[in-house]
Amino acid sequence: MTQTTLFPMSLVGAARRSREGSFVDNMRLPVHRWFRYSAGFSAQWVEHEIKRRSGDRTITVLDPFAGSGTTLIAAGQSGVESIGVEAHPFIARVAAAKLLCDGDASEYLRRAQEVLKLAVSSEPAALTYPTLIHRCYAPASLDQLDRLRRAYVLSADGSDQSELVWLTLVSILRVVSTAGTAPWQYVLPNKSKAKVAEPFTAFSRMSHLIASDMEEIGRNSMNRSTLFVGDARSCSDVCDDSVDLVLTSPPYANNYDYADATRLEMSFMGEISGWADLQAKVRMHLVRSCSQHVPMKGSSVDTIVSHSALAPIRDELLTVCRELAEVRLGRGGRKTYHLMVASYMLDMAQVWLAMRRVTRSGGSACFVIGDSAPYGVYVPVVNWLGRLAVHAGFDDWKFEKIRDRNVKWKNRKHRVPLVEGRLVIAG
Ligand SMILES: C[S@@+](CC[C@H](N)C(=O)[O-])C[C@H]1O[C@@H](n2cnc3c(N)ncnc32)[C@H](O)[C@@H]1O
Repeated sequence: MTQTTLFPMSLVGAARRSREGSFVDNMRLPVHRWFRYSAGFSAQWVEHEIKRRSGDRTITVLDPFAGSGTTLIAAGQSGVESIGVEAHPFIARVAAAKLLCDGDASEYLRRAQEVLKLAVSSEPAALTYPTLIHRCYAPASLDQLDRLRRAYVLSADGSDQSELVWLTLVSILRVVSTAGTAPWQYVLPNKSKAKVAEPFTAFSRMSHLIASDMEEIGRNSMNRSTLFVGDARSCSDVCDDSVDLVLTSPPYANNYDYADATRLEMSFMGEISGWADLQAKVRMHLVRSCSQHVPMKGSSVDTIVSHSALAPIRDELLTVCRELAEVRLGRGGRKTYHLMVASYMLDMAQVWLAMRRVTRSGGSACFVIGDSAPYGVYVPVVNWLGRLAVHAGFDDWKFEKIRDRNVKWKNRKHRVPLVEGRLVIAG
């Protein structure tokens, strides 16, 4: 994938222990609340970590899985320079727009109001959206959304204001939809909500919220973040020995599909015409952490695990993957977890090699991560990642547990106890 600098970014600038790996708190915080994206972590925890690990030093923070930009925005609010890498093009654009939060709030609001005015006064047009969109919106709502989209497209010029208007539009798509949203942001067209906001009203409300957050944040602006649309496995835009602290939450090996999480938004904006497009447009750029990403054809566990980057865990990895390959034969879905786990570990081994290259000697890394158990087969992800980091040239690793997982739910597909926490790498 081509790595593009989106912008030299301008930006602004201790969560409760039980929540420090969660995105929930962010939805109450200025800027962070502009777009809901699952599987992030708390911005307050990031700020706390940066303070704790930097002391009085001037440091550069890297988030190689930057997502919607929590680390970068929190780093800015802590007065620290930061670099982000994100491979999901739609989410990278969301993060880039959020990083414009230190811009001119009244200029942005003026542009958003112009777009709204144009939409309100425009005529309805023939709607040519994918089926998913027709299933997720009442006809009257879709008509208003379509008018907003056409008004945005007419005024779009790539400026900061224009990108923020784009974000305003995509950030209301869930609240104005009759479809439900699963906890991990998958859209559920079969599950309908009784009460939904009207798009013109939601757009106006959201633009005022964004403008007021910009006014609040602008007072502390820092201008010190750079975001790349790129691949954490190479970090090819990040210079050697340029980073002091890596702070991130990578994908877990838990079959979560980041591409599917933005299917509604990308379908509405015309970036994909259906689920099948997600593979080429998004999934193929990402770490292989879901089975949809790893087809049977052309892949073999033995070939994947023979890679030298996996040497320290090869035998254990092979044992787990062989068990998964056997278990799948008795399961209806026959998911390719054996290939997913092998590919995930190889991808993450390459991430460590990239982290070693870009991290200064004596630097550190903190990955919020959990282990997993596809088909009930335990995969010691944390332990393996720690050892792969040392194999890549770091000195040492330790794990600080945040919480137990899979201990209280009775309806899970398996009862294997799991943990989630911070994998802390030194060296
Ligand atoms: C757990 S989320 C991080 C969320 C983030 N902390 C936030 O604030 O939104 C992991 C992110 O890694 C991204 N990702 C997956 N594979 C990647 C790759 N090879 N390079 C860069 N980013 C990748 C996903 O698209 C996803 O946004």
